[in-house]
Amino acid sequence: MSKETVVERINDLRKQIDYHNYRYYVLDSPEISDFEYDELMRELLRLEAENPELVTSDSPTQRVGAAPVDSFPPMAHRVPLLSIDNAMDTDELRAFHQRVVKLVGKEDVPYCCEPKFDGLAVELVYENGIFVRGGTRGDGYTGEDVTSNLKTIKSIPLKLIAEDPPDFLEVRGEVLLYKNALKALNMERSEKQEPLFANPRNAAAGSLRQLDPRVTASRPLVFFSYGIVDAVSVGLDSQFDTLRRLQEYGFRVNPDIRLCHGIDEAIDLCLSMQEKRESLPYEIDGVVIKVNDIADQRVLGIRARSPRWSIAYKFPPVQATTILRKIGVQVGRTGVLTPVAVLDPVKIGGVTVSRATLHNADEVKRKDVREGDTVIVQRAGDVIPEIVAPVVSKRTGKEREFAMPEACPVCGSGIIRDTSGEKGKQGVMYRCVNMACPAILKEQIYHFASKDALDIDGLGRKIIQQMVDRGLVRDVSDLYTLKRDDIMGLDGFAELSTSNLLNSIQESKKTTLGRFLYGLGIPHVGEVAARDLAQHFGSLEKVMEASQDELQSMKGIGKEMARAISSFFSNERNRAVIGKLLERGLEITLQKTPKRAEAPLEGKKFCFSGTLQSMTRSEAKKEVEGKGGQVVSAVSSQLDYLVVGTEPGSKLDKASSLGVTIVDEDEFLRMIREE
Ligand code: IVH
Repeated sequence: MSKETVVERINDLRKQIDYHNYRYYVLDSPEISDFEYDELMRELLRLEAENPELVTSDSPTQRVGAAPVDSFPPMAHRVPLLSIDNAMDTDELRAFHQRVVKLVGKEDVPYCCEPKFDGLAVELVYENGIFVRGGTRGDGYTGEDVTSNLKTIKSIPLKLIAEDPPDFLEVRGEVLLYKNALKALNMERSEKQEPLFANPRNAAAGSLRQLDPRVTASRPLVFFSYGIVDAVSVGLDSQFDTLRRLQEYGFRVNPDIRLCHGIDEAIDLCLSMQEKRESLPYEIDGVVIKVNDIADQRVLGIRARSPRWSIAYKFPPVQATTILRKIGVQVGRTGVLTPVAVLDPVKIGGVTVSRATLHNADEVKRKDVREGDTVIVQRAGDVIPEIVAPVVSKRTGKEREFAMPEACPVCGSGIIRDTSGEKGKQGVMYRCVNMACPAILKEQIYHFASKDALDIDGLGRKIIQQMVDRGLVRDVSDLYTLKRDDIMGLDGFAELSTSNLLNSIQESKKTTLGRFLYGLGIPHVGEVAARDLAQHFGSLEKVMEASQDELQSMKGIGKEMARAISSFFSNERNRAVIGKLLERGLEITLQKTPKRAEAPLEGKKFCFSGTLQSMTRSEAKKEVEGKGGQVVSAVSSQLDYLVVGTEPGSKLDKASSLGVTIVDEDEFLRMIREE
């Protein structure tokens, strides 16, 4: 090959590789296979190795080539990276708007609203369209030059897509790690016994500040751009157009960015992003609101360390640190021992948290949490609070490692290791072997009496505790032999409450096969499986006699569940309890489901606003979907129902103005509970 053809081929390969990088890492829409991509890369690497004088700093081969360094040189920012003032609620957003209106002298102010990433701010410098230098934010004036590491991030273009790029361009944005990548990274770190990253920001910072670029390259970091320094100099006059231009240059820009007219629209967007937050693949901790017109921004100017033209609406925090006093062990309904962290109470997003689950012994080990540790606790959305990681730097040496007890903490019986594992939950489980363990019994009764099972109103945990402790109830069938005097003797019971409880116990005798099967608390058998079993077999006898194969042939019943069911019914003790229940008057009917009743909400669209008292959002969603309905996050004229809990947001106003039917929680419950 002549030198000219080599140069041509090299240029052609670089162009192709840049393009496919862009398709893959920026647009998320590759056009060629990994194999074909590798072929191109291999050819380029070979040609560059043969012609080292042709290697340029913007060649895609240079993303990982750099050698480790001892430290990072400082990188001064020509224009300091400011911070943004925070707004903790919508009132503060309105106050911000009032200040803006006053200073710019007009009511109608367009705002560019952008999700606020929880990552690390960086600045990238391009000269004649080529990425030459990049650094962290540092103190806002001087950061660290981490150019080699930034080059390993594939969503950072080494070369701008532009016919005639500006001679000089400074781009700002955020380096971050997707939630699933953080999880995977933490898994890996726990295997290597390295401290866990508490959040994506720490993970991004830790990854970007690696002296060896190969380490950075191994972390799937992503870059989203959100600004150009002195955008006017490249012919721009608004933030929204700036973002569009960044997109044209080949940068990733958040797809949830909106241009809002007036503060009400901006507030709506903040609230709907808050709801969307959980479902995004990356962490956001608020919404940044920026006055869109750069001319207006200039009028507003900056104050001390933050611009007057921008404000960050902050979501309620999801994490806090506190002291883990003790790791207790809870015995569940199926005898499984679960470690539970007992914490110094701490407020997270307005809710006081004093306990957090640790799932199982493996998890305690994996996260290396010890009694006495300062820990990071997380309460995200609807899930039970959990321990993210210990703050290792706060250790004094007095912390105690956790070990599963050798005997059941409630009844003192032996414990067995159960390696079967529940679906999706890896790790060894420990179980109390004593079927009559009071802890198991209490949980069984509680479950048997629960709403979706036998529905015995008024039978709470405290009452069950007393009944079991006094030996009044030794298994669930004993509930049906309770006398007036037995109950009157319990703490907190009087004439009326006793009658009420006896009544609801009586009423519970008439039940359906689905409810009954669910109430038995067979391991792995949830409400849906129980109902399916009832429908399929039609009678209790038939379910009890079903072979494992027969069970497994049913849709939705796997090997594990089939085994659990057949072993439950072959257990003598369980059969005896069922026998006694029938003797004591339980009447099990096979509830005939009227046609179409399975999807009574077919085709109906629901949206929620505010907090529900009786269930979480995700439970409510399941209910709606289970009945054929659909849950959407935004209010539109297509919506059928807006369900309003306490403290509803702006959706309520919007829904009423659109004439959408508004239902309160009670009405919603009636809609989904109608059998
Ligand atoms: S703009 C004057 N836009 O928030 C405004 N910042 O700035 C300058 N951040 O740590 C920043 N998402 O990294 C801007 N869409 C966004 C952002 C954003 C996250 C971070 C930024 C910095 C902090 C304060």
